Amino acid sequence: MTVFHTPMITLSDGNLIPQIGLGVLRIDDEGVTPVVESALEAGYRHIDGAAGYNNEAGVGRALQNAGFTQGENRKNLWVTTKLRDSEQGYDSARKAFDRQLDLLQLDYVDMYMLHWPTPFNWRSGETWKAFDEFRAEGRVRTLGVCNFLPEHLERLHKETGEYPAVNQIELHPTWQQREVVAYCKAHNIAVEAYSPMARGADLNAGDGVIERIARAHGVTEAQVILRWHIENGTIIIPKSVHADRQRQNLDLFGFVLDPDEHAAIDALDGPTRAGHDPMTFTYA
Ligand SMILES: NC(=O)c1ccc[n+]([C@@H]2O[C@H](COP(=O)([O-])OP(=O)(O)OC[C@H]3O[C@@H](n4cnc5c(N)ncnc54)[C@H](OP(=O)(O)O)[C@@H]3O)[C@@H](O)[C@H]2O)c1
Repeated sequence: MTVFHTPMITLSDGNLIPQIGLGVLRIDDEGVTPVVESALEAGYRHIDGAAGYNNEAGVGRALQNAGFTQGENRKNLWVTTKLRDSEQGYDSARKAFDRQLDLLQLDYVDMYMLHWPTPFNWRSGETWKAFDEFRAEGRVRTLGVCNFLPEHLERLHKETGEYPAVNQIELHPTWQQREVVAYCKAHNIAVEAYSPMARGADLNAGDGVIERIARAHGVTEAQVILRWHIENGTIIIPKSVHADRQRQNLDLFGFVLDPDEHAAIDALDGPTRAGHDPMTFTYA
């Protein structure tokens, strides 16, 4: 069986992150174990989790079962997790992080992220002090945020003197967030696309245009969208519980979109997000 290899993206802190990871949102704790195991078998070396997904123990079991908690395997794996918004703040973040490492059965994670900016209850600067300590302690390699708009990145920078290495945002053909992406590029913040297929909705976007491109290359609609992200230099974390789709979502390097096809997907940008608004949402 082919084991797929993923290109690496160099972050502002010098760390290398695999450009494709597996998202594990909306998979329960028991169910996530075989899902992560099959992903590791296919060649995924990047798992995107969060305390709020309530399945860190299940991810930890998969890493343990597959022998990825230590040694060379661990070195070659990128594990991301996120702090619950309700646990932001210095003391609570310190407690939460200890618990999360225990659940994951790991000595360190590769990336720890603020999950939402919650500007109506802003504690990112204070929370970042704990994050900074985790990094100094060697328990986190890279610090990131999710769902930050430029004003939130500015505010964090003002309070901490630092920009995160990664901003994980909702990004797919029908919601491209060009201003946020341009801001991130200008400040050397890597963009990571969550819901890279709009949870599946974008597979049918543009009146059949994705389907036509897929047919022309003999690939699936999912591969066309994910290939577009790859060509944009974006880190992607598609979620699938199915082994065949997991493999498909890694198999993006046997074809290239021609410039017209790439532009046709660029042109699908629209005003409707699939997820939540960072100005008002909290993921408790
Ligand atoms: N930071 C944040 O606030 C935030 C928010 C949302 C998501 N995320 C992260 O981003 C990850 C991905 O986002 P997402 O799960 O919302 O959406 P997504 O990856 O765009 O889409 C997942 C959906 O597409 C289906 N799918 C996957 N591969 C497919 C393929 N090759 N062909 C056809 N359908 C396919 C999946 O079904 P099956 O599973 O049945 O295959 C699932 O229904 C999450 O798991 C999570 O890790 C982060």
